[in-house]
Amino acid sequence: MPSLLRISVALVAAALGSQAQTFQRLGTCPTLGCVFPPDQADFLPGQVFDIRLEVHAPVNGSEAFNNGVPDEKFALTIQRVGEHGKARTVKEFLGLKAEPALEKWTFSYFEDLFAQDAKTPTVVNVASKAYRQVALYTPGEYTATLNFFGNQKTIATWTVREPPTNPKKHKAKNVLFFIGDGMTISMQTAARLIAHKSINGKYQSLLQLDQMDNLGHQMTHSIDSFITDSANSATALNTGHKSTVNALNVYVDSSPDPFDDPKVETLAEMFRRVRNGLIGIVTTAFVADATPAAVVAHTRNRDLAAPIVDMFLHGETNYSWPGVKGVDVLFGGGAENFLPTGSFQGKNYYDEFKKAGYGVAFDNKSLQTLDNKKRALGIFSISNMAKWVDRQVLKKNLFGLKNSPTGDGTDAVDQPGLKEMTLKAIDILHARSKADKNQGWYLMSEAASIDKMMHVLDYHRALGELLELDDTVRASIEHLKKLGIYDDTLIVVTADHGHGFDVFGGVDTQYLHAASSDRQKRSAIGVYANSGLSGYTVAPDSSPKNNTVVIGAQGANFPVQWDPRFALAAGVVAFPDHRENYTTAQNGPRLPAVNSADGFVPNPTDAQDGFALSGTIPTNQAQGVHSLTDVAVYANGPGSEAFRGVYSAIDIFFKMADALGLATFSNTTSSHH
Ligand SMILES: *[C@@H]1O[C@H](CO)[C@@H](O)[C@H](O)[C@H]1NC(C)=O
Ligand SMILES: *[C@@H]1O[C@H](CO)[C@@H](O)[C@H](O)[C@H]1NC(C)=O
Ligand SMILES: *[C@@H]1O[C@H](CO)[C@@H](O)[C@H](O)[C@H]1NC(C)=O
Ligand SMILES: *[C@@H]1O[C@H](CO)[C@@H](O)[C@H](O)[C@H]1NC(C)=O
Ligand SMILES: *[C@@H]1O[C@H](CO)[C@@H](O)[C@H](O)[C@H]1NC(C)=O
Ligand SMILES: *[C@@H]1O[C@H](CO)[C@@H](O)[C@H](O)[C@H]1NC(C)=O
Ligand SMILES: [Zn+2]
Repeated sequence: MPSLLRISVALVAAALGSQAQTFQRLGTCPTLGCVFPPDQADFLPGQVFDIRLEVHAPVNGSEAFNNGVPDEKFALTIQRVGEHGKARTVKEFLGLKAEPALEKWTFSYFEDLFAQDAKTPTVVNVASKAYRQVALYTPGEYTATLNFFGNQKTIATWTVREPPTNPKKHKAKNVLFFIGDGMTISMQTAARLIAHKSINGKYQSLLQLDQMDNLGHQMTHSIDSFITDSANSATALNTGHKSTVNALNVYVDSSPDPFDDPKVETLAEMFRRVRNGLIGIVTTAFVADATPAAVVAHTRNRDLAAPIVDMFLHGETNYSWPGVKGVDVLFGGGAENFLPTGSFQGKNYYDEFKKAGYGVAFDNKSLQTLDNKKRALGIFSISNMAKWVDRQVLKKNLFGLKNSPTGDGTDAVDQPGLKEMTLKAIDILHARSKADKNQGWYLMSEAASIDKMMHVLDYHRALGELLELDDTVRASIEHLKKLGIYDDTLIVVTADHGHGFDVFGGVDTQYLHAASSDRQKRSAIGVYANSGLSGYTVAPDSSPKNNTVVIGAQGANFPVQWDPRFALAAGVVAFPDHRENYTTAQNGPRLPAVNSADGFVPNPTDAQDGFALSGTIPTNQAQGVHSLTDVAVYANGPGSEAFRGVYSAIDIFFKMADALGLATFSNTTSSHH
């Protein structure tokens, strides 16, 4: 008895261990037979996707099987639950003309940290097939069963969701989708505190986000890990399918080709295919970054920036995927992937876009003069665009970067902000829709550097980006009203994930600067009653220390000053070793840690007068990482009531698709229907 008990406990532990382990053979495939889309996938009726089947035969390691020879006679059957008759082969069920070719490859992975240290990867041989561009049109539940190695089965249950609204009676003509990358409620609270004056506990003005009509929150976790990156979370928002870290609108297979993974159609692609809808993308990051790329691109590797730029123009040429051939508006940074030195196949992508009829802008001035009737490309810097604090307050930081989008080695000093780009994008999409069939538009506008600045622990710049997003939402609402299309436009504002940021007190930065030991410097932090009030809403001249910080053209809804003596004591839960002094970094975005023979250590030139914090993440991590928190969702306009409550990130896709009426119940492009 005791020995039996021990054995069963060990078996349970091993089984749970292999499911929950941090190093996986292939996410979403705990057995040796993989079905993609995997179990629990949800679809919009008519959403196009690929099916990938894989049979794994590990050569060695804890799962070694069949001498490393994979079954090549595996087969998938599909059945709609409740439908009479037996399950049919995938070919029959989907009415495919032919079986795809068998593919074979080998991959390896480490089973855990011990195997990684010992450099003993597990080797796996794979047999696979991919059924490309299929769709399910009838709402309901389906079971897809993979039979392999004679008697083994992997069963995936798929749900084709019944749209709550008849797609013919769709509610919104346009969707304006804002993503505050990495934005959390605690960041919004801090942004409100520094930008909006409070008298005796009563705010005299509020964030625009505080005044939206509907509020919900969404769960951001990945399909196979509980912390997501921006590619994977953007995949959930754009396709209604969760995926793996670094993947854009595909389920991750084990093959070496980063473009052959099974794809899922995005909202923008469906909108273009079903209604010839217009597509706009605006970001303050480089345009091929994960969040903007996820509107239309498909690859398991978000870092393939050059081919992603090609996808904005041509769609996915190599897999005859329908795609969006030519987005209508593309604004952001990232000139390095347009100039021949870093572009796809060495072409000049400014010329490629011009040849395709695009107007092209390189600065705020030329942005304003773009013809609203033409498709438009605006690339305003090499790499990510300048941060709001540097554009508006510490302007000297715009010089010396040699980041002109033309690649001529000058500085990109006339960069538009998120607001200028978004309002111009709305003008172009509106004018093109009016001049065409009034089909409407989908615009994704991303405040990318909330996330980027949180990563480098530059909290002040991150909050500046958040306030710029808030100002952009405010201005967009006014602009839509002016154009007379506010009532036709669903506005959704959310984040793709969070960072573990919060404010826990106030800091007397003068005392911190003057103190001689790390422990004495920490005494500068005032908690509870000593946290004081927001120093950022008080003009410098009225503060005890006459601060020399330049006040730029900051306007209402932004701090009066960025370097008060009494600053926010703020931090994140995940950070490398670094020093902290709680003031706005004067010479541009922070670099808190630098690499050394011993991993990342405090940057000797950052926060020199601060105190040392001992890191909480592996020493090979250069900067802070994303966190688990749910994030808020705000919505106004037609279809916006659906955004109340608590739901998964994938539901945002379904709610937006419902507002636009994108479900289709038969293959409308087929001659048979
Ligand atoms: C599996 O085999 C490969 C190739 O022979 C070897 O390099 C690796 O260390 C082996 N892995 C394990 C876990 O034994
Ligand atoms: C498509 O295939 C061609 C020919 O193999 C190749 O040159 C090109 O790089 C591929 N495109 C992408 C986006 O990978
Ligand atoms: C961009 O140009 C417009 C029109 O001239 C101007 O109103 C706006 O302030 C400029 N924005 C920036 C960030 O310079
Ligand atoms: C505060 O500093 C500014 C900028 O240096 C200066 O112009 C101003 O006269 C100072 N005010 C007082 C009250 O010292
Ligand atoms: C505090 O640190 C920032 C960098 O994070 C630096 O720019 C600033 O000059 C430091 N402040 C002081 C008073 O040394
Ligand atoms: C729809 O029909 C067209 C034309 O017959 C065909 O090319 C396409 O593959 C079909 N799409 C799907 C998702 O079945
Ligand atoms: Zn992100």
